Amino acid sequence: MIEVSQPANMGLRKTSTVSKVLAPRPSPLTPTPYPMPTPRVHIPVLSAEVLAGLRLSPGDRVADGTLGAGGHTRSMAEVVGKEGLVVSVDRDPEAVAAAEVNLKGLPVMVAVANYTELPEILAEVKQPKVKGILLDLGLSSDQLDARERGFSFQQDGPLDMRFNPEEGGSAAEWIAQSEEKELADLIYQYGEERFSRRIARAIVQRRQEQPIRTTGELAQIVRRAIPGNPRAAKIDPATRTFQALRIAVNDELGSLKKALRVLPDCLERGGRLAIISFHSLEDRPVKEAFRSDERLQVITKKPMTASEEEIARNPRSRSAKLRIAERIA
Ligand SMILES: C[S@@+](CC[C@H](N)C(=O)[O-])C[C@H]1O[C@@H](n2cnc3c(N)ncnc32)[C@H](O)[C@@H]1O
Repeated sequence: MIEVSQPANMGLRKTSTVSKVLAPRPSPLTPTPYPMPTPRVHIPVLSAEVLAGLRLSPGDRVADGTLGAGGHTRSMAEVVGKEGLVVSVDRDPEAVAAAEVNLKGLPVMVAVANYTELPEILAEVKQPKVKGILLDLGLSSDQLDARERGFSFQQDGPLDMRFNPEEGGSAAEWIAQSEEKELADLIYQYGEERFSRRIARAIVQRRQEQPIRTTGELAQIVRRAIPGNPRAAKIDPATRTFQALRIAVNDELGSLKKALRVLPDCLERGGRLAIISFHSLEDRPVKEAFRSDERLQVITKKPMTASEEEIARNPRSRSAKLRIAERIA
């Protein structure tokens, strides 16, 4: 583990030193702002491909912009070893708190931050140029499965959907405050939902009667607004509207576009940027930026995808696409 000073303003923390602070005994008098770390279920996708694609060696410095449950960070930390360093961030304070416990003892520093802030964070730890950066976009299975985070239409919970529950407005606030046309446009653009207008109208009608506060209520409204038998559909009809709201609430595409501009400057020459996306709204800007950016050379002419064996083990990997580019200038 290299010695890195602990900058106050970035909130960077060594995973090896802070676990005690982050695992307080629950007390009925002083509830913690986030649930205690729970056993992780998220399985990292395309892990071997990421490691091979980033060509890491012992002693390397790397960054993981989407720490999540820490699977990719862990495997990168094991390769770079104690002479190296993985600087990992996530917008989700709960994910970062759990990683501090789960990755204890590995050469990892973590912080609650947007991956667009990696240039400042890497500068703070005196590693302005790294050998590799990974972004594994979207949300983790842990977030999806946590009813109280409000990402899932399969379980009833508060309609929240924020990666960081302390940042910006919740999905319920978006639903309450947006004009019908705004709602229709975002469901169409970010959900690629052809019944977006009907859904927006149904939302507005319902909210005139009572506020829409839970994931269950919203899922019901969407299912009823879409023509046809919802049970006959291949996927739950609420899927696309929930995806759209999550993307909007977290400004996911805005972050991605900014990252594509700023992250190449954090790579040393020959360093690589690896991005895993899960739908075309994410993959398209990555593909275009990698092709047109003069600082980068595309390594993956076609995106890498999961093997049959990985898909059988982890169905979530089915839609994953990994693109890699190398800094050349
Ligand atoms: C698919 S999960 C990552 C899983 C992780 N690679 C692992 O192995 O466990 C995506 C994570 O990215 C985080 N995230 C999404 N957008 C982000 C952003 N702009 N900045 C930082 N973290 C972000 C989410 O909170 C979530 O924890």
